[in-house]
Amino acid sequence: MAKVYFIGAGPGDPELITLKGHKKIQEADVIIYAGSLVNPQVIADRKENAAVYNSASMTLTEVIEVMKKASREAKTIARVHTGDPSIYGAIREQMDALIELSIDYEVIPGVSSFVASAAQLKKEFTLPEVSQTVILTRMEGRTPVPPKESLSSLAEHQASMAIFLSVQMIDKVVEQLITSYPPETPVAVVQKATWEDEKIVEGTLKNIAERVKEADIKKTAQILVGDFLGNQYALSKLYDENFTHEYRKGKNK
Ligand SMILES: C[S@@+](CC[C@H](N)C(=O)[O-])C[C@H]1O[C@@H](n2cnc3c(N)ncnc32)[C@H](O)[C@@H]1O
Repeated sequence: MAKVYFIGAGPGDPELITLKGHKKIQEADVIIYAGSLVNPQVIADRKENAAVYNSASMTLTEVIEVMKKASREAKTIARVHTGDPSIYGAIREQMDALIELSIDYEVIPGVSSFVASAAQLKKEFTLPEVSQTVILTRMEGRTPVPPKESLSSLAEHQASMAIFLSVQMIDKVVEQLITSYPPETPVAVVQKATWEDEKIVEGTLKNIAERVKEADIKKTAQILVGDFLGNQYALSKLYDENFTHEYRKGKNK
């Protein structure tokens, strides 16, 4: 029976896709992939006669048309999105169109670029007594952001932050963040995390804009902000020998 699989391709490294996602790509009759960001190696292991479409140059109507035709022919369709499709993936509008057309679909998650960037930096977003909250956001560009979610208002929390789709506006990003984060707050910019040509630039709110420009980073980058990038934190309760929890008795208890 025809079915559309929305698959998270991961950040770039072709081994960072789930086994399930990889299997669905291998089995698909039709593959529609976001060619501007998805590593083509992710779809290399496909059926010889699979039809491949690059959605970078397609409209929503064209994408849905391909899905509609393939489903009429009882084909399996892999719709491959970068990272995890639930984050800036524009999948909701596709899923709603499929519901209208009574076409069955499933979502297979992926490794988002924000977690891939933390992995490349070997950092943890949720350090005890530093931050227990991660804010995923973007600067307003041609796509608006609700005013209640302006970067300057989110900055008030001084939480760990991963900023998507914004590196080309690094000066504005810094301007808004510095209204609440101290200027010496660490910032890391990771371009094309896990790709062979990955670039990492580190600094503070004071100097990151200059460093990003020096490194000529203009797109496909994560801006990670917060003291989680520093070295001060408390040890976790989970592994504290004096702390008792459901699976382990603490020494002093
Ligand atoms: C349309 S959004 C898609 C995000 C994707 N769904 C995810 O979960 O990573 C594209 C933005 O994600 C970020 N991005 C995607 N892949 C990246 C990578 N490999 N390294 C760093 N940032 C990446 C960049 O901020 C880029 O502008």
